[in-house]
Amino acid sequence: MLRTRVTARNLTVLDQVDSTNQYLKDRAFDLPHGATVVAASQTSGRGSKGRVWSSPMGEGVFFSVLYRPQVPFDFGVMTPGVGLAVCRGLRRLTNLPVMIKWPNDPVVDGKKIGGILCESVWQGSQAALILGIGINLSASREQFLQRDLPHAASLAMLGWEKLTGEQVASAILDELEPIYDSVCQRGELGSLAEQLSQWCVTLGRRVRISTRDEEFEAMAESIDPQGRLVVSREGQKQVLTVSEVSVRGLYGYAE
Ligand code: BTN
Repeated sequence: MLRTRVTARNLTVLDQVDSTNQYLKDRAFDLPHGATVVAASQTSGRGSKGRVWSSPMGEGVFFSVLYRPQVPFDFGVMTPGVGLAVCRGLRRLTNLPVMIKWPNDPVVDGKKIGGILCESVWQGSQAALILGIGINLSASREQFLQRDLPHAASLAMLGWEKLTGEQVASAILDELEPIYDSVCQRGELGSLAEQLSQWCVTLGRRVRISTRDEEFEAMAESIDPQGRLVVSREGQKQVLTVSEVSVRGLYGYAE
């Protein structure tokens, strides 16, 4: 199904793995650029901010891509970049209005349908970037509630129960490659930030921001070409990077 040049041309498909991100981290300088691993379940799936990413067999598709940029850039920009690939891929495959809760939550109708975790490792001056994506395929509302995940949804819950992991992963991988190429060349999202802004549920809302040092409310205004969130706080503009903050809606998970 793939139309990519390098992405997933080296492909490992596993029933189970500890974490697809960890699998590539361990082989970051052995496998070729673009190598991809897809798993049907993970025993130690990793979420952002050190959280666990629940990954039972059959409920989702879990995959990671290894890229080795020749020239390093600020890798924080890739998290919203992957978000854009998820939106584009899933919108092409389904008619769902997939949006991004900045910086890394794909959402439909305010419910989180997956997650994105970008990591990097270095060997001397050579960096390896690992872009991990998990999409909820078939879990039910009851299963999410049992795991205390009231804000989660699966594609099946949204009427797309027949989609396979292969279809979902390849639709997203097809979109990821040109976005990675463009970001890698420019070192920023550039004009891709405009499309991402149109699909970002965070913009135009008051949000609660938690940084390491403080918590405050602000108005989310725009995404800049580096993929950072620009907020207005008591009339002053403030630019937030992907790694330093957590953003919540004032009235719920995304709103
Ligand atoms: C989040 O907390 O929203 C990010 C979740 C990222 C999960 C994916 S599943 C594939 C890849 N492997 C991992 O261990 N994590 C990412």
